[in-house]
Amino acid sequence: MTVNSSKSMPPVITIDGPGGSGKGTVGQRLAWKFKWEFLDSGALYRLVGLSVMNHSVEMTDVARITELARNLDAQFAVRDGEQGEEWIILLEDQDVSDQLRTESCASAASQVAQYDSVRSALLERQRAFQVPPGLIADGRDMGTVVFPDAGLKVFLTASADIRAERRYKQLKSKGIGATLSAILTDIQARDDRDRNRVVAPLVPADDAVIVDTSEMSVNDVENHVLKLAKQRFRQLENIG
Ligand code: DC
Repeated sequence: MTVNSSKSMPPVITIDGPGGSGKGTVGQRLAWKFKWEFLDSGALYRLVGLSVMNHSVEMTDVARITELARNLDAQFAVRDGEQGEEWIILLEDQDVSDQLRTESCASAASQVAQYDSVRSALLERQRAFQVPPGLIADGRDMGTVVFPDAGLKVFLTASADIRAERRYKQLKSKGIGATLSAILTDIQARDDRDRNRVVAPLVPADDAVIVDTSEMSVNDVENHVLKLAKQRFRQLENIG
């Protein structure tokens, strides 16, 4: 099915899946290629988690955590890096891009993400990313909750072992210290929390295309999702 681009809302592609499934890298690459907006919704939860730690708020203090989420002073920007343009994320005017990728931020994000009021506080901020010419949104509930009318929903999976290995290599290349076994334990704990929470659990939308990336390279996944996007959206037909 090709989606008619004359519909009033800008088109959305959602890419959901567990941590390390490749959704962030693929989503970002395709957004650059299409010149569409990109939403890294996990970064918003990580920012709330970091804010909780910075302000020494207890993980059980839902009211204060919700307040922090509602008033999050965060900005997403692009800067010239060593390998061309790169995204940076500012929290209260500080560049926290690298800090956000640490396992402690990931774990804090997964904990604050369990609270319904925190998720509601971030909802409109996420929907505001749906601007012309289109949006690629990556996360856990993009296709089920935040953009239920998205024209293409993709759900990426991969075994926990493979995802841990990918995360390990990613952190190592950035000079962030971690051990493979600790990452695997964290990933399994996070998967468990994300899949079994009551609100917006990590599940594919009924109309999502499920792609197991265990045996695929990032380029393979990118090409596969590109093919799906071209089939769905006429305006992307000529993208290389
Ligand atoms: O994608 P990520 O690893 O940056 O996400 C960090 C955590 O944030 C993840 O464990 C669960 C939470 N999250 C969520 O609950 N909903 C989203 N849409 C994105 C992330």
